[in-house]
Amino acid sequence: MDNKGWNNEVQDNILSAIQKADRAFEFLDLGAGRGQDSLFMARNDWRVVAVEKSAKAIEKMKSAPGFNGLPIEKRQVMVEDFTIEKNRYSIIQLNNVLQLVKREKALGILTLVKGNVRSGGYIIVSGFTVHEPSYKNHKDLCYFNDGELRELFSDFRILFYQEILVHDPGHPEKEYPHQHWIVRLLAQKDVGG
Ligand SMILES: C[S@@+](CC[C@H](N)C(=O)[O-])C[C@H]1O[C@@H](n2cnc3c(N)ncnc32)[C@H](O)[C@@H]1O
Repeated sequence: MDNKGWNNEVQDNILSAIQKADRAFEFLDLGAGRGQDSLFMARNDWRVVAVEKSAKAIEKMKSAPGFNGLPIEKRQVMVEDFTIEKNRYSIIQLNNVLQLVKREKALGILTLVKGNVRSGGYIIVSGFTVHEPSYKNHKDLCYFNDGELRELFSDFRILFYQEILVHDPGHPEKEYPHQHWIVRLLAQKDVGG
C-alpha cells in the first residue's frame, strides 16, 4: 500500500508527463477540484484549462496565492458537456473524477480524450476499482474492473499502470483516515496515432 499521489500530492504521473510533453500545447485538467494539479502545472509555466462543475471548488482555486497571475482558464461546466478541442492539449488528466460520473458517460469521455489529445501527447487517469467498498452503492458509476483501464488504452503506449490499495489520511468530505482501491494510468498517444 502507498499514499503517493493521493490527496494533496502531485502524482508521479504528472511529473513524468511534464518532462516529456510538448509545452507548446496545453494541460487539460478534467474535474480539477480545488486545482492542486492545475496550480502546480501553471506555476511550472504550463498553460492550463481547468474544468470543474463546483463553483465552491473553483472559488477555492481562485483563492490560491498568486492565482490571478497564473495562466489558468477555468471553466465551470460538467466534464461531459465540455468540448475538448482537438490537438490543443499535450496532456489531458482525469484525476479521481470518473468514479463520480455515470459509467456510460465516463467511457464516452475517455473516448473523446483519446481522440482529441495531440499525437505524442499524454493521458493521465486515476480512478476507483470495483474493489472499492463504495462500489456496492454506486454500480451505475465508473469504477474500473481488473485490467479494464489498461484494456481501454491498448491502442496507446502504456507508460505506467497500477491497481493498488492506497492510504488516504482524510479530506474535508471524510475526515478520518481511510483506504481506497485505485487504478492509475499514464499513456501516450503514438505519433501519427
Ligand atoms: C475527488 S475530486 C478530485 C479533484 C482533483 N482532480 C484532484 O485529484 O485533486 C473530484 C472533483 O470532480 C468534480 N466533478 C465531479 N463530477 C464532475 C463532472 N461530471 N464534471 C465536472 N466536475 C466534476 C467534483 O466537483 C470534484 O471537485
